[in-house]
Amino acid sequence: MGDFFKKQSVANFLEVDSRLTKSLTAKDLLALGIGAIIGTGIFILPGHEAAMHAGPAVAIAFLMSGIVAGTVGMAYAEFSSAMPVAGSAYSFGSVIYGEGIGWILGWSLILEYFLSVSAQSVGFASYFNNNILGAFGIHLPKFLSAGPMEGGGINLTAVLIVFVIAYVIAHGTSLSKRVENVAVIIKVTIIVLFIIVGAFYVNTKNYVPFYPAEFHSSPFGLGGLSTSAATVFFAFIGFDALASNSAETINPKKDVAKGILGTVFIAIVLYVAFSLVLTGVVNYKDLNVDDPAAYALKVIHLNFWNKLITLGALVGIFTALLTLFFGGSRLVYALGRDGLLPKKMGEVDAKYSVPKNAIYMATVVQAFFAGLVPLTELTSLINAGTLLAFIFISFGIIPLRRRKDIPNDGYKMPWYPVLPVLAGLASLYFLLMLPKLSKITVVIWLVIGAIVYLVYGLKHSKLQNESKN
Ligand code: ALA
Repeated sequence: MGDFFKKQSVANFLEVDSRLTKSLTAKDLLALGIGAIIGTGIFILPGHEAAMHAGPAVAIAFLMSGIVAGTVGMAYAEFSSAMPVAGSAYSFGSVIYGEGIGWILGWSLILEYFLSVSAQSVGFASYFNNNILGAFGIHLPKFLSAGPMEGGGINLTAVLIVFVIAYVIAHGTSLSKRVENVAVIIKVTIIVLFIIVGAFYVNTKNYVPFYPAEFHSSPFGLGGLSTSAATVFFAFIGFDALASNSAETINPKKDVAKGILGTVFIAIVLYVAFSLVLTGVVNYKDLNVDDPAAYALKVIHLNFWNKLITLGALVGIFTALLTLFFGGSRLVYALGRDGLLPKKMGEVDAKYSVPKNAIYMATVVQAFFAGLVPLTELTSLINAGTLLAFIFISFGIIPLRRRKDIPNDGYKMPWYPVLPVLAGLASLYFLLMLPKLSKITVVIWLVIGAIVYLVYGLKHSKLQNESKN
């Protein structure tokens, strides 16, 4: 077992990553963060969660979730300042806990990225099917618009969008910074417009009761709210990906913190306001639809705004899809490069300079889940995988501060050690509040991960082999 806990040296990572160009500023990170964070989550979850678990108090759920995300974000920022390397939790974990745990965190990140692409595609499909195809009078039969768990066959649009993104990425096209920035501005503007225009149509009667009694389950009557907060956590996922960019940041000691905390702050403000307007315009009981924002605008007969929000959702989700697909395939590539997955995954295509095999593998898995699994199940699964990494990273601040070989004169989490421990415990609480099926599925995923590591990674890993030579 000694090998399982063999630690990567920071110097190794820093040396490998020194080849990356350092060009990102705090502002770029903020744009990247908003680009990755705002997607299916805000456009779909407030409706589902208001109807199923919290009523109008879904706004409070977003606030709770955002505070936890921000606190965990501080831990990521401290790690990025202490070791500005690529790979996020995978690299941090390998240095602090050893390669085995680093691998488990990397494996959880694969789940996060891959299934996030599937979830975004399902979200994209909802807005596309209901508001674009619907506008042309085309209504897909249930067999082609929903997976078997919802009484259909396959979510065709979701599968197709995965293939479209795969095609774009496989041809070496990453969004240029300028296109990305424009897309971010479009989606934020449209969300702000929804909030402003919708605010005029709020009927305060819809806020009573604010947290309906039917959701007052245990613990302390806060069961519905907690489940809701744990579920909407999905909407904040993505800030952790900023930590992956720390090796490419000009001043990672301060700017990664600014990027992460700024992103989470903006998201909290937008999400809370969005949820308040949504549940004020339409009664929460009617919000269990797949395109709540567009639906709300239809209800109040604002057809032009309905088109605009559909555009915002599609652009928003499309950019989030590209970022996540790109991130996921890069992660698989890094694991292949380090010998933890077959070398083929780390191979780079000569013509387009992209990790082709990693992209193929990602496409198959992502399309499979997009076609067959409903959004709610996907989001809970993603949250479970991500929260697991968050627990390790939050508590990891304690061993990090003890490492004399990793000095950090940059960003540090305040109120040490109380805040890191609270962040870890809050992530654990959210994990426990998720549906049982997600927890079981994640355990299965981790067992598969452990087997892959013990059977393959441990033998082929570069780190293990370096020490033998
Ligand atoms: N935070 C991302 C979203 O809400 C995953 O779509």
